[in-house]
Amino acid sequence: MEITASNTKIINRDRLQSLISKEQKRFEESHPKSKALFEESKQYLLGGVPMNWMVRWAGSFPIFVDRASGAHFTDVDGHDYIDLCLGDTGAMTGHAPQASQDAIVERIKKGTTFMLPTEDALWVGKELTRRFGLKYWQIAMTATDANRFSIRLARKITGRKKILVFNWCYHGTVDETFITLENGKPVPRKGNLGPPVDPSMTTKVIEFNDIAALEEALASEDVACVLAEPVMTNIGIVHPDSGFHQALRQITKRTGTLLIIDETHTVCSGPGGYTKLHSLAPDILTVGKPIASGIPAAAYGFSDETAKRIRENTPVDESDTSGIGGTLAGNALSLAAIRATLEHVLTDSSYEKTIPLATRFTQGVEDAIREFNLPWTVQQLGCRAEYWFRELPPKNGGEAAAAIDGPMDLYMHLFALNRGILMTPFHNMALMSPATTADDIDKHTAIFREAVQSLISD
Ligand SMILES: Cc1ncc(COP(=O)(O)O)c(C=O)c1O
Repeated sequence: MEITASNTKIINRDRLQSLISKEQKRFEESHPKSKALFEESKQYLLGGVPMNWMVRWAGSFPIFVDRASGAHFTDVDGHDYIDLCLGDTGAMTGHAPQASQDAIVERIKKGTTFMLPTEDALWVGKELTRRFGLKYWQIAMTATDANRFSIRLARKITGRKKILVFNWCYHGTVDETFITLENGKPVPRKGNLGPPVDPSMTTKVIEFNDIAALEEALASEDVACVLAEPVMTNIGIVHPDSGFHQALRQITKRTGTLLIIDETHTVCSGPGGYTKLHSLAPDILTVGKPIASGIPAAAYGFSDETAKRIRENTPVDESDTSGIGGTLAGNALSLAAIRATLEHVLTDSSYEKTIPLATRFTQGVEDAIREFNLPWTVQQLGCRAEYWFRELPPKNGGEAAAAIDGPMDLYMHLFALNRGILMTPFHNMALMSPATTADDIDKHTAIFREAVQSLISD
């Protein structure tokens, strides 16, 4: 164990590497069937997986899933896991909730896609308005699409070309958003494949919570919209400073810039997302992932004024070539699944259960951090929590990104995985579903403590 000048413990890297090797061996030995399936899949699927990021888990190959129910899933080797990843929010409902299953099966029997609305669409529109406060809605297949379409509409109705995002944001695979700050200068984000143009041609990027930079970036009145998560969740949880949202709304209004709030992850804050909880007033709101219990669906809503401008600027006879939409968008199956999810699963009472579970998770991790005097922090947002290997919560994406510790992430995830807990890849996030139990959380706490102990005991 090494001791820093401030007497906080840091991790011995040689020890960490040898612990990772030990856990990797244990993983490989205990997952023979997943390993065999992965090896065979490599002959047919690029990289051995249906989606390239599915190899980016802590184990040296991906676990193949057999089935899931509630907060647990079972892999093909017969291991049971507490799922704290929950499809990175896509399964925040818990897996296969009964009410959604029933509605989905029923809809499949009656046909799934028509290019025509069903009665569920009306119910869903009303409910989205009640929850989030925006007046009019459209349905997309994914949150990426909802963001992409919202940006297009914002450009169309403002006549402006640029958008603004926050450093280290993530809003799905939206071309314009893959831009970061390096030494204060905007640069294309590493790993963005084949961008159509240099993103600095389309996008301004500033740090979250930087009101002065926001004033400066919007002063030239060439920005169609700010696209923002109300709390950053994709580079760890970064909360807004007090007064930040008020300033964001005032400055965007004053400069004629539309404000798009992306609630895809922050819908973990409550039934109406962070927007309803904190009385935000975006011009456009986007939300996806869990709203249909894992069936692909997303929604984007508009204030009355924004809807009026859209109507005035988007002739219906051009709507089939508008650059927004998709044949399967707004299909009957997605709408039936959204309805069942909002009516029976992600209800007010479900959040009354899941948010205290996230508090329990946070408390458990915090206790271990304190017990071992580690310079780490843990943050909660609604039914989501995330720990971070830095002493103070980051104030913006740049600070958060600078604290990423790849080997530590790998070890903590692998240690948990080998003991039946799945954390969200790419960061140390845990999400609670209505089916998660206090026992599930206490098991995580015990395993987290054990992992920490293994790192620092001599
Ligand atoms: C805040 C946010 N918005 C949008 C998306 C895109 O969601 P999807 O990949 O389902 O399109 C994500 C995905 O992680 C996200 O975190």
